[in-house]
This record gives sequence, structure tokens and C-alpha cells, in this order.
Amino acid sequence: WVANQAAHPTARQGAVAPANATRLTVLYGSQTGNARRVAERFAAEAEASGLPVRLVRAGAYATRELADERYLAVVVSTQGEGEPPDDARGFVEFLASRRAPKLPKLQYTVLGLGDSSYPQFNAMGRALDARLAELGAQRLAPLAEADIDIEPVAAPWSEGALALLRERLAHDAPIASVTPLRVAATRPQFHRDRPFPAPVLANQRIVSRASDRDVRHVELSLEGSGLRYAPGDALGVWHRNPASLVTAFLAALSLDGDAAVTHDGRTQPLREWLTRERELTRLSRPLVQAVAGRADSAGLRAALQSPDALRELFDSHQPIDLLRAHPADWDAAALVAALRPLTPRLYSIASSPRAVGDDEVHLTVAVVGYHAYGEPHLGAASHWIAAADEDATLDVFIEPNERFRLPADGARDVIMIGPGTGVAPFRAFVQERQQAGATGRNWLLFGNRHVADDFLYQVEWQQALKDGALHRLDVAFSRDQAQKRYVQHVLRERGAELYDWLAGGAHIYVCGDAAQMAKDVHSALADIVATHGGKTPEAAQAWLSELLQDGRYARDVY
Ligand code: 2AM
Repeated sequence: WVANQAAHPTARQGAVAPANATRLTVLYGSQTGNARRVAERFAAEAEASGLPVRLVRAGAYATRELADERYLAVVVSTQGEGEPPDDARGFVEFLASRRAPKLPKLQYTVLGLGDSSYPQFNAMGRALDARLAELGAQRLAPLAEADIDIEPVAAPWSEGALALLRERLAHDAPIASVTPLRVAATRPQFHRDRPFPAPVLANQRIVSRASDRDVRHVELSLEGSGLRYAPGDALGVWHRNPASLVTAFLAALSLDGDAAVTHDGRTQPLREWLTRERELTRLSRPLVQAVAGRADSAGLRAALQSPDALRELFDSHQPIDLLRAHPADWDAAALVAALRPLTPRLYSIASSPRAVGDDEVHLTVAVVGYHAYGEPHLGAASHWIAAADEDATLDVFIEPNERFRLPADGARDVIMIGPGTGVAPFRAFVQERQQAGATGRNWLLFGNRHVADDFLYQVEWQQALKDGALHRLDVAFSRDQAQKRYVQHVLRERGAELYDWLAGGAHIYVCGDAAQMAKDVHSALADIVATHGGKTPEAAQAWLSELLQDGRYARDVY
């Protein structure tokens, strides 16, 4: 056994490979943990079927080993507009660079995790799959592209890839006995597919009456659920679509809400499908495809070919707008099949269990709504939550985010950048650091529209400053003067000090809008590091990439 182990090491997280290793490496790049979970299960299944296997996260992978790999399975998610998970940046950059070795000995397969409501669906999976082929590696199994409903794609990919791997590896070398990976973490009693009905303890508007937006502070009870969370985690909430929106769908397509519809082997009235099980407020590529076909629209077909046109379409239309703009004959079953399954929304948790108790969890929820095409358009989940009064329950589960964690060492400083409801996890961080007696300094940068209306948790921050739980608070109220003022403007003004904190080992966190804010903040950071760290722009970018890779710069953006 010991001899076998030496010949086929299965050490996790980056053991050095023997040059002729006949084993499978499962590499994952994960932002929120989905890719990690899929990769862990795949590795455990591979091992259970007797394959020598090691599991490595992309950030811990020693790229010099790549040239010696024989079998590689990659599970990678795509972020935002086609970016890699922060942890996989180094690996992706290495692979794309001229330093990447030729890989004639390698057989590989890629599973990409994506979200088809983004135009750059699975761009990372596609890019890695194509690049490995370009470097001379052979596809063991074709690229698989999972949408947010991961299982229907991940399960067949895993099965197919394992069958091929068993065949090839058995041919290369007799299969050795291996040390167990011990990755099978026990699942809590309540989870995504079996949410806990959490009683609402409080649900308060925390912006002034004059504010043009509604933001809620929501407190939920987890008592009896067994659910546990850490600051940085998110709470998943299953919502129902507004009755008015369901009615609008039925009217627009002249369909009967009481008609029984069978889909996926289950039968229930169309109204139920639309209320509880279908995504009605976000467009997806498959829906655009279905509408393009049914309405025979050349314009939509063209949009499907252009990421920019598709982004524009997604930004300006909800499904109901698209269906109205492209009238066609729909039957109830076709509609249910074309709409993608409802997915729960994730909210960054705004409390620390140390401060509020293990049985409570707090959220900060912006109620989304805007006017378009002559009608109000509601954010389905935030409206569902806003309407939940103190007799109601919300169906919830914990979505861990291991990439967004306070430093283990409480003596480290932390810098938190969270405009709007992006401030939520930092309320949890500040509570946690205070309760834990962390000695490092805490610096919060907050931004919102108006100081008088939208200063979320103002009283708590002032108390924290007084208590010494917060050491610096900088604010940017964008609409209180003629010129927009954003958190990145404050960052630039405080550049010297910020660089000082970073150079002293501070951890830095960004939470909130991914499309603009996180990018603008990143550019500001790069400029600050260049200016105050005396680095070239390229060196400053590389320095930040390293921080991201190490988890010292972490983002929770959406
Ligand atoms: P605005 O709406 O006045 O443009 C929370 O939504 C805060 O983030 C608001 O003050 C908003 O300003 C601001 N914001 C909008 N775009 C931003 C960006 N690119 N970077 C930073 N903050 C931004």
C-alpha cells in the first residue's frame, strides 16, 4: 500500500507530480464554491472507481507541472463579462502566455460553469478548452457547458469522462489503491434544494422617505435549522414571481393559467409553473433563441451572434418585453420549456453570528424596480422579500463563500469598499472583528446617492467609530454635488495612506456592482499602487493580480 502510494501519490493541493504520473489531476477555478463542489464530487467519484486522482485548486497549482500531466480535468466558472475566478487568474494568464509549454502528452476535458443570462456565457471554459487544444493536448471528452442549473450538464459530463478515464488509465497502468480524498463533507439538513422556511423577525426600510429607492434591513430566524454561517457567506433566498407579472405573461400570450402543463415529468397548472418555477425577470440566451425561432426574427438571430447586441438586449428587456416585441404563437408547454428554471437569489449576509447569535441572520436588500415600455418592472426576489412581514417566512439556505473571508490573523488591517448594499458583508466583518477582539484596523469606504437619505447603517458606523471597532470611515455621496463623487474618487485622494496599509499587509475587500464599480475601483487601485508603490502600470497590475490570487484582495461582486 505504501509502495503504491509512493508511485501514485494522491496528495491534495499541489503535491509534486512524478514525471510519468499516470493519474488524473482535477483542477478547479471557483469563485463562489460551485466549481469547487463539482470538482470535489468528480474527484471523489473518480477515486471511488479506483482511479489515482488528485484535486487541486487553480491558485495552488504549480504550473511547471503542467508539461508532465497526462490526464487533466478542469472545472472552471466564468465571472461577469468573461473573466476567470480570482483564484484562477494566475493559471489562466500562464496558459495564455508564451511561457505555456506544448502539451502533446496531455489528454483533457473541461467543464465550464456559466450563466446564460450573461452574453459571455462560459467564456472561460471555452477559452481553456481551446487553448489546451492549441497547445497540442487531446480532448478526452468534449467541452461541457453548464448553465446555472448545473446538474443536467455536470452529471453526464462526469459520467462520460470517468468512463473514458477508466479505460485509458487502466490501459496505461494497473489501477493502484489510493488514499481516500475525504472530500465528502456532510450536507446540512437544509440546503439549496431543501430550503429552511425562516421566520421574518424584522423588515425595516433603512433609507429616508425622500430616498428614490427602497432599501430594507431584514432579520430572519434560523432557529431549529442547524444552519451555520460565517461573515462573508451569502444567504440564498427562493422567491415567487409577482402575481401581476404572471398575469401579464398569460395575457400577452393568451394562455390559460389553469391549464395543466407537464414538464420534466411533473404536472401542475401553468400559473404555478410561472409563479414558483420559471425565471420571469431575467433574459437568457436559450429564451432569446426560442423567441427568435418561434417569431422567425432575423433581428434576434443576429443579436445572438453578437455579444454586444445581446448585452444591449439583456440590459433593456425583461422576458415579457421580448415576448411582446416579437409576437408568436405559444402553447403553454412550449413556454415552460423555453423559460429557464427559477433560481434563488444570493444576498451577502450583513451580520456576524458572534454578534447576533447563531440563530439569526441579517440582510440588506435593495428593492429593484424601474419603469420601461410604459410599465413598472419589478425585481422579483427583492419585491418578494420587501413584502415579507413579521408573520411570513422566507425559504433560505446558506451559500458559503470561502473566497471572501476575514484574515485569520486578527492583527491584520482590513480595507472594505462597499457602496450601496455592497456594504452588507462589511457590517458582518466589523461586528465579527469587534466580537473577536481583533487588533488590526478597519477602514470602511461607503458610497451612495445622498447623505441625508441613503447613509445605510449610519448610526451603527458612528457607534463603531466611537467604540474603536471602526478606525476610518470615508464616504462618497454621488448626488450631493454637481459632479459625481464615487468611492474610487475617495480612494485616489487617500492613495498614499491606502498604499501604506496595503504594503503593511492589509487585506482589501470590494463588494457591490460588478459591471462598473468593481472595475473602476480596480483601476483606481492599480493607479495608486503604481504611483505610491513606484511601480510601472504593468507591475502594479501584476501586484494586484497576486493579491487577488492570494485572497488578500477579495471581491464579492454581482
Ligand atoms: P449614482 O447612482 O449617483 O451614479 C450606490 O449605488 C452608489 O454607487 C450610488 O451612489 C451610485 O451613484 C454609485 N455608483 C454608480 N456607478 C458607480 C461606479 N462606476 N463606481 C462607483 N460607484 C458608482
